[in-house]
Amino acid sequence: MSETKDPEMTIPEQANSSASSSPEPLLRVTGLVKHFPIKKGLLQRQTGAVKAVDGIDFEVRPGETLGVVGESGCGKSTMGRLITRLLEPTGGKIEFEGKDITHLGVSGMRPLRRDVQMIFQDPYGSLNPRHTVGSIVSAPFKLQGVEPEGGVKKEVQRLLGLVGLNPEHYNRYPHEFSGGQRQRIGIARALALKPKLVVADEPVSALDVSVQAQVVNLMDDLQQELGLTYVIIAHDLSVIRHVSDRIAVMYLGKIVELADRDSLYESPMHPYTKALLSAVPVPDPRRRGAKSDRILLKGDVPSPISPPSGCRFHTRCWKATEVCKTQEPPLLTLRTGHQVACHHPESVSDVPLRGVAPDQAPGEAVLPEARESVEVVDATPKSPAVTKAESPAEAGASEDSAEGDIQDSNPSSI
Ligand SMILES: Nc1ncnc2c1ncn2[C@@H]1O[C@H](COP(=O)(O)OP(=O)(O)OP(=O)(O)O)[C@@H](O)[C@H]1O
Ligand code: SF4
Ligand SMILES: [Mg+2]
Repeated sequence: MSETKDPEMTIPEQANSSASSSPEPLLRVTGLVKHFPIKKGLLQRQTGAVKAVDGIDFEVRPGETLGVVGESGCGKSTMGRLITRLLEPTGGKIEFEGKDITHLGVSGMRPLRRDVQMIFQDPYGSLNPRHTVGSIVSAPFKLQGVEPEGGVKKEVQRLLGLVGLNPEHYNRYPHEFSGGQRQRIGIARALALKPKLVVADEPVSALDVSVQAQVVNLMDDLQQELGLTYVIIAHDLSVIRHVSDRIAVMYLGKIVELADRDSLYESPMHPYTKALLSAVPVPDPRRRGAKSDRILLKGDVPSPISPPSGCRFHTRCWKATEVCKTQEPPLLTLRTGHQVACHHPESVSDVPLRGVAPDQAPGEAVLPEARESVEVVDATPKSPAVTKAESPAEAGASEDSAEGDIQDSNPSSI
C-alpha cells in the first residue's frame, strides 16, 4: 500500500522491492475477457453473453497495491476471480512471474495456489460456521500438503497473533467473533501459505464503519511486514485512495483509466473518473470552502449484455461526439504512468498530451443528447467547520477516531 501522508499513519519504507524499482511485473494481464453465456430454452441454447470483463490490460508490480474501482456490475469481482484463476477466462492472457497461467489445470495451478490468495467481501459467508478457527486457518496447509515448522497448531496460533486475534481462541467457532474479527480470520487464512499476491474483493465494505480503518491498517501493516503485493477492489473512493499506489477505473468491463494515485486524484483525465471523483469531499484543509462542483451522471449503467457501441461511456458522457459513438477509444499512455481510454480526455494545460486531440478537438460538436447526460450541482461545503476528514488516512486513522471519519466518507462510495 501507499505511504500515507498522515503523521499518525506514518508507515516505514517497504522492506521489499519498491513498486517503481522493479522491472518485472508480478502479474501481467493482456486482453483479458470473460463472457458469461446466457442460455435459454429446453435445449439450453446460448442466446447471448454477459460481457463482464471485455478486454483489459494491466500489470501489478511486486510490492505495490493496485486499487480497482468502478460502479456495481462493471466487472471488478469477475476480474479478481479471473486473476486468481477461480474463473476460467474466455480470452486473453494472464502471466504470473512471467509464466502463462491462463488455462492451467488443477494440478498446474497447485503451486500457484500458494502464491496467489483471495480475501472475500463477506466475512460471514466466507467462513464455514461448522469449523473452528483453527481448522479454517489450517485448511490451506492440508490442501497443499504443507507441514509448517513447529507444527500446524503453532503456526495457526502465530497467524492469529499476526492479525491481532488471541491465539488462545483457536478452538472457537466463527459465530463467536465480530465481523471485523472474522475478516481478520479470513486474512490469516489467506496469509497461511505466505502468498506473493493477495487479491482482496471489497475487504472492508461489509464491515461496520468503526472497524473498517482497523482492517485497512492491518492489511497495510502486513504488507510492510511480509512484502505482500495487493490488488484491492473497493467501492469506497476514500478507502481506495488510502490503500493504493496505482488505481484502475473500470466501466462496463473495460479499464478506462489507470494511473498513479496522486495523478488520478489530482488530475483525472477520463470524464467518468472525473465524475466519480467529483463526489469525494476535498481532503486538503486549505482548500476547504473552495468552490467545488459535483457531477451527477444521469441514467443507468447500460447492460453488459449489449454494451453501447464505440466508447461504452458515450450514453452518459457530457463530452460525447460522433466519433465516440462509433470508435472505441484504446487505452493509451497520455502522460508518464497515466493511461486513459478517451477520444477527448480532460487535459491539463501545462502538460501536453501525447498523440491525441486536445480536450474537445476543434470542429467536433458535442452530441445534443450529451448535454443532458449530467447535472452539475454545487458541492461547496457551507462551512469548513462541518466538514470532517473523509478517509482513514486523512482521519489520522487512529482506530478510535475511525468511526466518524469513515462515516463521513459515504458520499464517496459508488
Ligand atoms: N457467474 C455469473 N454468471 C452470469 N453473469 C455473471 C456471473 N458473475 C457475474 N456476472 C455478471 O457480470 C457482470 C459483472 O459482475 P461483477 O460481479 O464482476 O461486478 P462488480 O463490479 O464486482 O459489481 P459489485 O460492485 O456489485 O460487486 C454483472 O453484470 C454480473 O451480473
Ligand atoms: S469523450 Fe467520448 S471517448 Fe471520452 S469518455 Fe466521453 S464518450 Fe467516451
Ligand atoms: Mg463485486
